[in-house]
Amino acid sequence: MKKTRGRSRFRRVLIVLASVVGVLAVVVGGGFTWLWTGADISTVGKVRFDHEMKVPPLAESTVRKDGTRVFDLRMQAGETEFKDGKKTPTWGFNGSYLGPTLRAARGEKVEVRVRNSLDEASSVHWHGMHLPAVMDGGPHQAVAPGARWNPYWKIDQPAATLWYHPHPHGETEQHVARGLAGMFLIDDAKSAQLALPKRYGVDDLPVIVQDVNFDGAKLDHGHQFLRNVGFLGKQTMVNGTLDPYKEVGDRLVRLRLLNASTARIYTFGFDDSRQFSLVGTDGGLLEQPAGMKRIQLSPGERAEIVVEMKAGERTVLRSSPWQEGGAWEKRFNGGDDSFDVLQLRAAKTLRDSPALPTRLVASELPAAKDAVRGRYFELKRSGINGKKMDMGRVDETVTRGTTEVWTLHNGGDMTHNFHVHDVQFRVLSVDGKPPEAALRGPKDTIAMPLGATVKIALRFDGPADPDHPYMFHCHLLDHEDHGMMGQFVVVEKGQKAGAVGGHTGH
Ligand code: C2O
Ligand code: CU
Ligand code: CU
Repeated sequence: MKKTRGRSRFRRVLIVLASVVGVLAVVVGGGFTWLWTGADISTVGKVRFDHEMKVPPLAESTVRKDGTRVFDLRMQAGETEFKDGKKTPTWGFNGSYLGPTLRAARGEKVEVRVRNSLDEASSVHWHGMHLPAVMDGGPHQAVAPGARWNPYWKIDQPAATLWYHPHPHGETEQHVARGLAGMFLIDDAKSAQLALPKRYGVDDLPVIVQDVNFDGAKLDHGHQFLRNVGFLGKQTMVNGTLDPYKEVGDRLVRLRLLNASTARIYTFGFDDSRQFSLVGTDGGLLEQPAGMKRIQLSPGERAEIVVEMKAGERTVLRSSPWQEGGAWEKRFNGGDDSFDVLQLRAAKTLRDSPALPTRLVASELPAAKDAVRGRYFELKRSGINGKKMDMGRVDETVTRGTTEVWTLHNGGDMTHNFHVHDVQFRVLSVDGKPPEAALRGPKDTIAMPLGATVKIALRFDGPADPDHPYMFHCHLLDHEDHGMMGQFVVVEKGQKAGAVGGHTGH
């Protein structure tokens, strides 16, 4: 009797358990299917292209008696109308969203009078710029709320499309996503003579690409479940314009593409798969234009491309899914996604443009044969070479004036990239093979797919400053914020790194 009752109770418990497990399986399985399919984003064919692409204004400047070109940048909070009639709270430089385009020539002295009118500390970093570490605007140069910071330096690098953005310790993703970013164009005598499209906003267009999510009128920077790259948006903007189109009146149009997204990797091309010419990478022009149909840009990277237009036509700059990567990686880290980014509308009649030059500039990149030493960097989300960022620790000490070869390895947790402050490096190899055309120009940031090994040559032209470090880091900003960053100082031969300490602004 007792036994039977025990058994039937046991059976009842079993049945209940089984149904609980069954329900759980359905819920979890269904939830997973929902997550899996929901993680695939595409705006292809859905973008209305009904807002004219904004062009960031060229920043005003004054020239002092000593020849210094002086700019003013004020970080401020404001409201931006991305959607008609709706005001979105945003941050910007000298405006409510993004910032003006700074422009200076090689050999010029510049000073930027930065003022922080936000109610929290931030900083302004000159991404891609060769300059003294104390002017670099990294986490050690925090600018308190209400404070000013006046970095100055001499422009000493080739014509290029650089950019600026905040770099506060642990807060970079938030500050960039709210709208703090802008371009910094460098001109030089050689590029001025080349027959490249160069009328700013006419046939030479800044194209700052960001992905965003809206929650009503507000920007939503929340991270979604399973997206371990950081924030991924469901739609894109160019120069802070949703659904952008741009009318062009020239046969050849130069696009200065900047991936200013915090985590998203784009593979840019055109909807009709037309060929375009790559003329420049992160730090300047190539030796010669390279024809291609697609170019991948990970966060922070730039590419200058020239596209040929026919009178009256329309073409769409589109971002396609990644070529490489596993199914999981692609699905949850944005690799499956596609976006219609910008529509170009050609006028009924176009001004003719001179043919693209076949030779552009002589390379100033360092050569591997000059390297005095090598270093190895193991890239993991948990840290570089097993260490999380520490503002008080100098990870690498390099000697001014020397060339080094760095080996970067993505040990296999997920996609990353790698950015080095102060220098433009040469890519020597990717997985043992010579770099493709898109990686043959000056680079300061490079994509690091799962398992990849990349070798780069870097020359540290100083000035030496043992007490102020430069950064190297993953430019997926959530990774950077969580410690995927390290510091190096440039010293004179035989000199030791100083105490960099100074835990400011966190
Ligand atoms: Cu564009 Cu250290 O950053
Ligand atoms: Cu940088
Ligand atoms: Cu990373």
